[in-house]
Amino acid sequence: MISPIRTELTVTDNVPFGQPEPGLGGTHRYYALTLERPAWKNWEPGQFIMLRPKDGGTVEWARPLTICRVTSQSLVLFFRVASEYGTDRFARLRGGDKVIVWGPLGTGFEIRSNTPTLLLARDAGIAPFAGYADMHPDPACLSMLFGHQHPSSHYPADAMASRLDMEHLRDRVPGDCEEFYRVSARKMQEYKENGGICLACGPMDFLYGVWKKALELELPTQLLLSARMNCGVGACLGCSTITSKHWPDPIRAGLPVHTCTSGPVFWARDIDLDAVMPERNM
Ligand code: FES
Repeated sequence: MISPIRTELTVTDNVPFGQPEPGLGGTHRYYALTLERPAWKNWEPGQFIMLRPKDGGTVEWARPLTICRVTSQSLVLFFRVASEYGTDRFARLRGGDKVIVWGPLGTGFEIRSNTPTLLLARDAGIAPFAGYADMHPDPACLSMLFGHQHPSSHYPADAMASRLDMEHLRDRVPGDCEEFYRVSARKMQEYKENGGICLACGPMDFLYGVWKKALELELPTQLLLSARMNCGVGACLGCSTITSKHWPDPIRAGLPVHTCTSGPVFWARDIDLDAVMPERNM
């Protein structure tokens, strides 16, 4: 069990990725925010922090952000600007600004040595796999399929490509997104046949498809459901996920749990996304 700590940190950099977007008032869509390294003893890729600018102005609440990577000097967070989630204010942070960080929080991804490991990432879901590749004892076992809407320059993909095998599928024309889902399913089949595991992060529609396929194949698969989180601390009640009959605590099987306090990483077989996303189960 990793004990989270609350700490004040200094922003060392905040780098926009891609191009400014008129629809965002001329700001960028994606940022890599670098903070000085917190005094954590340990952390796990897939975990998150709660972040709040110290001089928050009218901002009262911290927001959860998935950890991208932790180096000897830095904590790096890669995020997508979305005003409805309050991350637009993080885009305005500059070097020297102070922030309040609470973490590391939540469950992390499984790391298995000598095991073929398929990483499925879509859009900003690539973020936790940077740290995952850093920490894995056998990076040669890792292979990533990365589906994205924008050019790869919008994501930290180039820096990761030197550390793991990576295949890109970009949405260019209608139907490309579905092709990404098809290729993901085909690769999951291959990893099942080779005794591998699968880890996935991205928007919920994508994760729902991965969840379905994982159950069909009985491929050990973990899903990072950060897309369901808002407050990050069990207060908004908006992130509930229904457990399946395989949930480790039988008394809680079939009942709701908070993604933020029981996850955000779950084994696919432990949860029931049909109960969470009934509109997809038609
Ligand atoms: S994110 Fe608000 S209760 Fe979990």
